[in-house]
Amino acid sequence: MSEDFVRPVINELKDYVPGKTPKDPGVIKLSSNENPFGPSPKALAAITKEEKNLHIYPDQKSILLREALAKTLGVADSSIIIGNGSDEIMQLAAATFLRPGEEIIISEHTFSVYEFVARIFDGKPVFVPLKNNEQDLEAMAKAITRKTKMIFLCSPHNPTGSYITMKQFNNFLEQVPDNVLVIIDEAYAEYNSAKDFPTSLKYIKEERNVLVLRTFSKFYGLAGLRIGYGIAKPELTGYMFRVKPPFNVNRLAQVGAVAALEDKGFLTKTYQANLEGKEYLYAELDKLGLEHKKTEANFIFINLKRSADEAFIELMRQGVIIRPLTSFGFPEAIRVTIGTKEQNKKLVAVLSKII
Ligand SMILES: Cc1ncc(COP(=O)(O)O)c(C=O)c1O
Repeated sequence: MSEDFVRPVINELKDYVPGKTPKDPGVIKLSSNENPFGPSPKALAAITKEEKNLHIYPDQKSILLREALAKTLGVADSSIIIGNGSDEIMQLAAATFLRPGEEIIISEHTFSVYEFVARIFDGKPVFVPLKNNEQDLEAMAKAITRKTKMIFLCSPHNPTGSYITMKQFNNFLEQVPDNVLVIIDEAYAEYNSAKDFPTSLKYIKEERNVLVLRTFSKFYGLAGLRIGYGIAKPELTGYMFRVKPPFNVNRLAQVGAVAALEDKGFLTKTYQANLEGKEYLYAELDKLGLEHKKTEANFIFINLKRSADEAFIELMRQGVIIRPLTSFGFPEAIRVTIGTKEQNKKLVAVLSKII
């Protein structure tokens, strides 16, 4: 088949670069920011119970999960839409709202799916450089033109771990016209401990043009199940529901997510261990003289000041898989997931060998 058969934008796309997964179970995977404690036990129990119903299609609208989330988050269930991972919500937003040639403002050095989504739906990505390794909201606001349709923000930011403060977000929103959709990807929000982290849900209650993205892949330990969600004013989610494939979220994912939301013991352990893990790693990285950033997520950005791809291979030989940030445009930096105590110790030990 010739390349002409394929839409030109697809010919130009590069493959997504995922974090590597080890084949050897003895190797520690700190490359994709998954929960190091495994899946929520309550989710596992609910999934096992649900298996007998697998011959029946799932609820098309994930009603029980949306009710549970609405209660937890304090928003109307009509403002929630569930996806096969939050990645799918990004695609749904673009499929629903983006017209060919419209612009999507994206920060440089960020999660690559935003660019994929823009391109796949014939949008025009407009990249704005980072400032001091942070998303530059002022420059992003200045990049708005009459053609701008969407803006992607990520907070806490993958891969730097920084976050957008409430004040920054308020100032930013004031500069965004009503006909532009601000998508704020909060895949790691549950880990944050910052007092001035914006309660973005407030903007949804105010009926602003904001779509918040969250996921069960990280904090809730369900990355393999594929389930995430978007929160926006019902007018927006209503249109997105028209585009959503009817049965996009399987039965196991729906019941697993409801149970994970209620798994307070697991969630507290995850949150606490992450806080302790990051303090431990900050201290150890300081001792090793490795430059790193403060994080509000479950990963740390480390500037190795040497080839990240080579470091990746050396670390893998020592039994730890990390994420070299070359594909993010940081060829000398790595991103490591904060793991269990043992995993963090092992990480420090192997880092000390390769520097
Ligand atoms: C910033 C960010 N957004 C979204 C996702 C994807 O989430 P999901 O697994 O819900 O598709 C990730 C996963 O790595 C991420 O880092």
